[in-house]
Amino acid sequence: MKIAITGAAGQISYALIPLLLERFKFPIELSLIDLPDKISLLRGLEMELEDFCFSNLKNVSSGSDENTLFEGVDVAIFLGAKPRAHGMERSDLITVNGATFHRQGKILADVANPKVKALVVGNPANTNALMLIRGGDYKLKNQVQALMRLDQNRAETALKLAGRPHQDVFVFGNHSPTIFVHNASMEINDFVRKRGADVIKARGMSSQASAAKAVVDHLDDWMSSEDRQYSAAIYSKNNPYGVDEDLVFSFPFSNKKGILELPLSREEQGMLKQTEDEMQKERQIACTIPFLN
Ligand SMILES: NC(=O)c1ccc[n+]([C@@H]2O[C@H](COP(=O)([O-])OP(=O)(O)OC[C@H]3O[C@@H](n4cnc5c(N)ncnc54)[C@H](O)[C@@H]3O)[C@@H](O)[C@H]2O)c1
Repeated sequence: MKIAITGAAGQISYALIPLLLERFKFPIELSLIDLPDKISLLRGLEMELEDFCFSNLKNVSSGSDENTLFEGVDVAIFLGAKPRAHGMERSDLITVNGATFHRQGKILADVANPKVKALVVGNPANTNALMLIRGGDYKLKNQVQALMRLDQNRAETALKLAGRPHQDVFVFGNHSPTIFVHNASMEINDFVRKRGADVIKARGMSSQASAAKAVVDHLDDWMSSEDRQYSAAIYSKNNPYGVDEDLVFSFPFSNKKGILELPLSREEQGMLKQTEDEMQKERQIACTIPFLN
């Protein structure tokens, strides 16, 4: 299986690659993509991968040429995104990254395996995933998902800490503080909404190892031959919740049956609207990219 990773010289990637090679035992070829000024870091990573001696790692290519490195890939993991620099508005971040994902979506649709699965992690993940779909002219609309598994895992942690382990935990909406956990108290929701900021405050960096583990959990469920149910942000066309049909929105999802329909309380319907409003605003900002008009 050929797997491309963008932002491969970054921190999540560094934690992710060994987890990926441990979890999936089938033969893997890696295509590692980052910006031209990160080539030396990529070469160092390649050397470390050689020294790991994973028997299932068959080949590693790296560089910045997306046309070559996305060619024939079966899975593409999008970690690469510009972080919010000092003084930068959130709207600037959305447009800069939106343009990148739009360009990459076109290339992916043109050169990857037509059945490619693309998982978007780089923030704002849901809107970047929508731009990836749009860039590929909607050809990949059912093959792109954005990572919500870290939020789902955080919700499971919150329930465990509250002494209420829970079987099926699902999160709805945007990977942002407007997200909500289905059938959960306000305390659980607050925990999940603040957890990313709490980690940054404590570490001075965002969640990396836990994000890497969440990527592997997500791919494991998505690619499984069994029916797996998990939270995934997917293209919202024909969703049963009445959400705007041109977003990448987190729903309870089955890899075999698609979106699962669960009853929402009146309060949850209010939260659904709030997170939908936020994503509609992000889409509007992302679509102000000059070349899209
Ligand atoms: N969805 C989630 O649950 C979740 C969780 C944690 C982090 N994140 C996001 O994941 C992303 C990666 O996090 P990290 O800690 O690895 O960041 P990082 O800064 O360590 O690495 C990001 C890498 O992306 C590269 N990059 C930037 N633009 C690129 C482009 N156009 N093409 C290819 N590579 C590019 C950078 O050069 C850098 O090496 C961030 O956007 C972060 O906010 C998402």
